[in-house]
Amino acid sequence: MSEILQVQNATKTYMMGEIPVKALRGVSFSIKKGELVSVLGPSGSGKSTLLNLIGALDRPTDGTLIIDGTDISTLNDNQLAEKRKQVGFVFQFFNLISRLDAKANVELPLMISGISRSERKERVTDSLTKVGLAERMTHKSSELSGGERQRVAVARALVNRPAFLLMDEPTGNLDSKTAQEMMDLVVKLNEELQMTVIIVTHDQEVSARTPRTLRMRDGLIVSDEVN
Ligand SMILES: Nc1ncnc2c1ncn2[C@@H]1O[C@H](COP(=O)(O)OP(=O)(O)O)[C@@H](O)[C@H]1O
Ligand SMILES: [Mg+2]
Repeated sequence: MSEILQVQNATKTYMMGEIPVKALRGVSFSIKKGELVSVLGPSGSGKSTLLNLIGALDRPTDGTLIIDGTDISTLNDNQLAEKRKQVGFVFQFFNLISRLDAKANVELPLMISGISRSERKERVTDSLTKVGLAERMTHKSSELSGGERQRVAVARALVNRPAFLLMDEPTGNLDSKTAQEMMDLVVKLNEELQMTVIIVTHDQEVSARTPRTLRMRDGLIVSDEVN
């Protein structure tokens, strides 16, 4: 089975006190191994909510998500946390620790996984090389540019060898030239490593760089197009 993700009629309703907020109203789609897909939509359309479900950070209110063969509604909290290790996350605001250098930031997820020191070193170097930052390994995050910081965040997401990469507005905090360079990297990771990538954005220029775009509006997928 080449499908890495199957979403069937997923809904998500948040409670704001007494008032239900329907962030997802029933979305269905599937994604194959090795695809590069963008999710495009205005602010508030439910993109982050959807990405959090795909990343096993949260459960749907209703509907089914099958991630790499596992229906996540059947998992308990510990199993869900285990599933999350298969996912590499990249966020808009990088979420790096500024007083740590690039390699220490990338190593963090491996410390939690309990991997040996030599294996950690090898994986950190490998990940930072893949994002073109081998020469910047010992620079503190605070000494790096925005584009470099985001590449460190990508290296950190890759270090656990995830089944797929989820990016939530990864260019939202970058100028347009740096955003283009970030997309060059994303396309390269997809083409050269066959990495499956789902990238959430409100920027049409970003989504145009991906072979497939799911458009969202008001908690629904309104189109599924080839670019
Ligand atoms: N934790 C939450 N509690 C209540 N409402 C939320 C929460 N997260 C998101 N929402 C609401 O759900 C809708 C979709 O939000 P979100 O998925 O963040 O959209 P996007 O990422 O496209 O901007 C919005 O109306 C938002 O206010
Ligand atoms: Mg969002």
